[in-house]
Amino acid sequence: MLLVIPRGQFIMSTISGMPLFFLCCLYLIIVICEASFGPSYEYSKYCNNSNGNYTANSIYQTNLNTLLSTLTSHTEIDYGFYNFSHGQNSDKVYAIGLCRGDVKPDECRSCLNNSRVSLTRLCPKQLEAINWEEKCMLRYSNRAIFHTMDASFSYHMNNVNNATDAEEFNKVLGELLRNLSDKAASGDSRRKYAADTAVFANLQTIYGLVQCTPDLSRQDCGKCLHWSLADFGNVFKNKVGAVVLRPSCNVRYEIYPFYDEPTPSASIYYQHRSLCFPFTTTEVSPTIFLAKWHGMCKKLQLHTRLHK
Ligand SMILES: *[C@@H]1O[C@H](CO)[C@@H](O)[C@H](O)[C@H]1NC(C)=O
Ligand SMILES: *[C@@H]1O[C@H](CO)[C@@H](O)[C@H](O)[C@H]1NC(C)=O
Ligand SMILES: *[C@@H]1O[C@H](CO)[C@@H](O)[C@H](O)[C@H]1NC(C)=O
Ligand SMILES: *[C@@H]1O[C@H](CO)[C@@H](O)[C@H](O)[C@H]1NC(C)=O
Ligand SMILES: *[C@@H]1O[C@H](CO)[C@@H](O)[C@H](O)[C@H]1NC(C)=O
Ligand SMILES: *[C@@H]1O[C@H](CO)[C@@H](O)[C@H](O)[C@H]1NC(C)=O
Repeated sequence: MLLVIPRGQFIMSTISGMPLFFLCCLYLIIVICEASFGPSYEYSKYCNNSNGNYTANSIYQTNLNTLLSTLTSHTEIDYGFYNFSHGQNSDKVYAIGLCRGDVKPDECRSCLNNSRVSLTRLCPKQLEAINWEEKCMLRYSNRAIFHTMDASFSYHMNNVNNATDAEEFNKVLGELLRNLSDKAASGDSRRKYAADTAVFANLQTIYGLVQCTPDLSRQDCGKCLHWSLADFGNVFKNKVGAVVLRPSCNVRYEIYPFYDEPTPSASIYYQHRSLCFPFTTTEVSPTIFLAKWHGMCKKLQLHTRLHK
């Protein structure tokens, strides 16, 4: 039988009478029960009150409505980034639509369409406004906003729970998000997105996602993400999940899956140290067990990955 001691150190004497497949089943049951999803966030909009207003039935309003309906009914774009403008001179409107990198074209369009409806209702006269939803962002302005980084405003949300092993958690999280930022920044003009997982010592998985509007240069994308990562360190110290939204980039991490992976998904596996507790020991042989246990956890992780 097995014993678990704090910090993920396991000790074993024998596993006789405990067929491995039983352990697997038990593990999977716990895994499924533990696959709880976190709280949902209140996504937000931003009406820029310092950039001027338009009047009802103005040319600007007509241009805006035309632009947004063109944008949300456009069916050729399949990479989730829309940069459209419409109108002339001071009545010209620029809009950017950006869907989260894993979102399919149909879902992307309907997310942007919903944003259009709520944004023009919530910011009924501002020349410039932004709406964030979980899966897309829609922005418009009278200013030329393409190829220009805007990190002037940020919106923060977080899970209230603290990581149990904060030091290790923050270290792995920081490394994961920095890696993802480098990867996203080096994306092309259609996609600057990266999402991946990292497993830390107590076998919990961290899911991270970063994205820039792909019209930014590599440097500007890197800068916008860098500032957002700094917010994580300061504002959300030790939190098990958080989101930072800026007009030009966004970052999110959780300890549960929240995005779709392009490859077979791991969305049902979620590891927790408590799942190891049913096992106790009489005789100690730490090295042998450690090797076996880690081997098994890895195998199961692979198993659930392949069978989703
Ligand atoms: C709002 O408008 C002002 C004036 O144009 C601008 O300086 C500021 O950056 C805008 N805010 C955002 C978040 O774009
Ligand atoms: C635009 O309208 C908003 C909401 O009524 C108001 O708070 C803001 O001061 C106005 N901005 C300008 C530049 O007039
Ligand atoms: C967008 O939303 C509006 C209002 O809900 C709806 O009437 C329209 O059909 C939608 N358009 C698309 C392209 O989904
Ligand atoms: C998380 O940690 C902070 C700072 O130590 C504390 O104020 C807060 O109450 C903790 N949150 C929970 C849910 O335990
Ligand atoms: C970050 O990238 C480095 C270099 O590619 C890699 O060795 C490391 O495992 C990555 N860390 C995480 C947490 O993804
Ligand atoms: C819009 O985005 C596409 C794809 O990134 C790019 O090729 C194009 O030049 C952009 N158009 C404008 C006006 O910035």
